[in-house]
Amino acid sequence: MSDPTRAERASSFGSRAAAYAEHRPDYPREAIEWGLSGARRTPRHVLDLGAGTGKLTLGLAELGLAVTAVEPDPEMRAELGRVVPSATSLAGRAERIPLPDAAVDAVFVGQAFHWFDVPAAMTEIGRVLRPGGVLVPMWNYEDESVPWVAEYTALGRDGARRPAATDDLRQFEHPAFEMFESDRFRHVQRRTAESLLETIATYSLVIVSTPEKRQALLTRLREFLASNPATANGEFDLPLQTLALRARRR
Ligand SMILES: C[S@@+](CC[C@H](N)C(=O)[O-])C[C@H]1O[C@@H](n2cnc3c(N)ncnc32)[C@H](O)[C@@H]1O
Repeated sequence: MSDPTRAERASSFGSRAAAYAEHRPDYPREAIEWGLSGARRTPRHVLDLGAGTGKLTLGLAELGLAVTAVEPDPEMRAELGRVVPSATSLAGRAERIPLPDAAVDAVFVGQAFHWFDVPAAMTEIGRVLRPGGVLVPMWNYEDESVPWVAEYTALGRDGARRPAATDDLRQFEHPAFEMFESDRFRHVQRRTAESLLETIATYSLVIVSTPEKRQALLTRLREFLASNPATANGEFDLPLQTLALRARRR
């Protein structure tokens, strides 16, 4: 793949916003509830930061919480407004959150923490969180303990590293927060081979790639899915694991 900058990848999602909304997985309710239970008092008002098309925003709203979604990309925000009209949606970034001090009880971040300037974002998140509130970053991963999934994701990653999470937990330490805890939650997404390929096409590394490289990757994956017994015939369950972190505001 070419060598696009991190900033280019971080701001690439809007061009695939509709496909993102349709094909990316949502988050299991147990993971969201585990995150919320890290707060000292029951959260009522939560912020979804880097909210994208509202995958996690919807899960939070369905629990009856008042949700504010902050997202820099206007095309992603437009999808979010369609998917979760009850959420307050604001333009903004993790490093400069458009909320007053101590405004929310919890801050959730789905699949976006690795795009933030983490020390600056943690300071801002600490500012908008009430004392005893909780920060909950989470990531969905294909469940590579399943052999065909491991083979598929290795092919799809094409040598690239997957988003940093647990390996780099120590560097997320911040004086405003207690230490991070983590847990994992299994879930599945009902898929077809074509929808899986649509998902791959929403990955930042694939979006910023050249058309030739993108096509070669999709062809390789299509051939794999067509020859793999678990995915060759119609719909199947894609096994996923959600890795959730939580750290309480001091
Ligand atoms: C992979 S998407 C995740 C979207 C959504 N949270 C989800 O779980 O589906 C990453 C999102 O982070 C946003 N983003 C990138 N850099 C950001 C930053 N510095 N602050 C806030 N959001 C950012 C992107 O615009 C994109 O919508």
